[in-house]
Amino acid sequence: MDKSVYPPLSFDQKSEFDALKMHFLSMNSTPMMSLFDEDPARFSQFTLSAAGLNLDYSKNRINGETISLLCELAESSGIQAAIGDMFAGVAINKSENRPALHTALRNFSDEPVLVSGKDVMPEIKQTLNRMRNFCWAIRIQQWRGFSNKPFTDVVSIGIGGSFLGPKLASEALKPYWSRKINCHYLSNIDGSDLTETLQGLNPETTLFIIQSKSFNTQETLKNANACRDWFLENGGCEVELARHFSAVTANVDKAMAFGIAEKNIFPMWDWVGGRYSLWSAIGLPLMLTVGYENFRQMLEGAYEMDMHFKNAPLEQNMPVLMGLLGVWYVNFFDAQSHAILPYDHYLRGLPSHIQQLDMESNGKSVDMYGRKINYQAGPIIWGGVGSNGQHAYHQLLHQGTQFAPCDFILPLMSHNAVGDFHALLVSNCLSQSQALMQGKTYEQAEAELRAEGKSADEISVLAPQKVIPGNRPSNTIYFDKTTPKTVGALIALYEHKVFVQGKIWGVNSFDQWGVELGKQLGHKVHDALKGCESNEAEFDSSTQGLIQAFRAMKDKL
Ligand code: F6P
Repeated sequence: MDKSVYPPLSFDQKSEFDALKMHFLSMNSTPMMSLFDEDPARFSQFTLSAAGLNLDYSKNRINGETISLLCELAESSGIQAAIGDMFAGVAINKSENRPALHTALRNFSDEPVLVSGKDVMPEIKQTLNRMRNFCWAIRIQQWRGFSNKPFTDVVSIGIGGSFLGPKLASEALKPYWSRKINCHYLSNIDGSDLTETLQGLNPETTLFIIQSKSFNTQETLKNANACRDWFLENGGCEVELARHFSAVTANVDKAMAFGIAEKNIFPMWDWVGGRYSLWSAIGLPLMLTVGYENFRQMLEGAYEMDMHFKNAPLEQNMPVLMGLLGVWYVNFFDAQSHAILPYDHYLRGLPSHIQQLDMESNGKSVDMYGRKINYQAGPIIWGGVGSNGQHAYHQLLHQGTQFAPCDFILPLMSHNAVGDFHALLVSNCLSQSQALMQGKTYEQAEAELRAEGKSADEISVLAPQKVIPGNRPSNTIYFDKTTPKTVGALIALYEHKVFVQGKIWGVNSFDQWGVELGKQLGHKVHDALKGCESNEAEFDSSTQGLIQAFRAMKDKL
């Protein structure tokens, strides 16, 4: 860290923050419905299109002045320069002194991208080409298993960013799978995950891809060893490992020590974070199932969003606006969480991926200058597929004391036109965001109950319970159809939204030191569970009690 430069003003010390605090006082008492009454063209004023996506942000607690003030905050936070630095490969991940160049993985310009003075584009392109040849050989059944049968299943072994991104994209692009190869994701250090994944698989026709940037993650190595044992115990042999096992990692030596043939090892680079690595060879399982062309289209969708993010003015910039709206709710309306609500079966994995993307990036409480921050940063990200959520947690969204802004995500067309199903799904999505905004007054509830013939006593009991506060904001991101391009653009949109927020909050969005302690403590607990030296005295009584409960159960077996 360059000590000579005095750290810049933190988020809450800026005059733009003060201006927004003042503005909040007026906006907080302004019903969104009145904003629509005042301006019938509000939808078109607050809808933006880019990279095949459309963002309707009109159902927010904002007016034109809000957007101007938020963009001034972005300006004073140095967002434009920060975007340029990220794309240019500046070491913006200061604690690890690394660039964050996931954008280089989908760079279709002819511009070089320099890391320590060296253009990394040739090796990126070479790796993409290797991926293409690898997948092609398997998909045309040229590369076969040890009994010369074509591969029917690929098991991707990985966790976190080596799992969530590829799994989301695989599910999202299921309509594009060539049905010859099934893709399975094995992530957890849980014998049930391993057992269920291998259930019914044939070692002769199963390919394993060990996905681990560090090749040092306990869960992934445990599963990789178990899959190798399964392979060897069910007809496979050491010499055939090379045919059935490949790896994606930055740690080539450890992968080779595991027994992976060097020609089957695909590189990962330090300048790509795990949660941003879908675009790298970590996407291999996806390319195996949807083919190179569709994978490339996903990259192109992300690239189009990149160019929009890099070039659009702040007030017309989709990731910037989404980031700023999130700051508006977290830091001025005190929102603790943010809900991701895809109204598309194929996008059901999106909330889980964005959870890691957002919470592992901005779930921080110290800024990049080492200062403890005394304002909220990354929110809790949650959500799930609609319309199911309406029968699970939407009650809280409508009437809870908690305040959770929502992103509704909606393809206007379905891949499966079954009767009027899609029109009903769309109507659910649109009416949910409408109900969140509109609410229901006491008078409306009363009138409804009266029309149902309820007595005055019944009305006095029921009416208060049926009031819905309303004025709860949401974005609707809509697009024609869930395709490789729109999936690429959508994921890139959220990557850049997270980047904008991290920059405004002053945190490093690209490291994740918080996950280290659990791993360190885990080793000692594991020793105690195994009954090694009773080092239990070191533990608090809760941990001790839980260890004893486990050991007591084990002794019964
Ligand atoms: O959760 C910590 C983390 O390092 C993530 O950032 C990463 O995606 C995951 O673990 C897996 O790491 P690796 O790819 O090195 O196995």
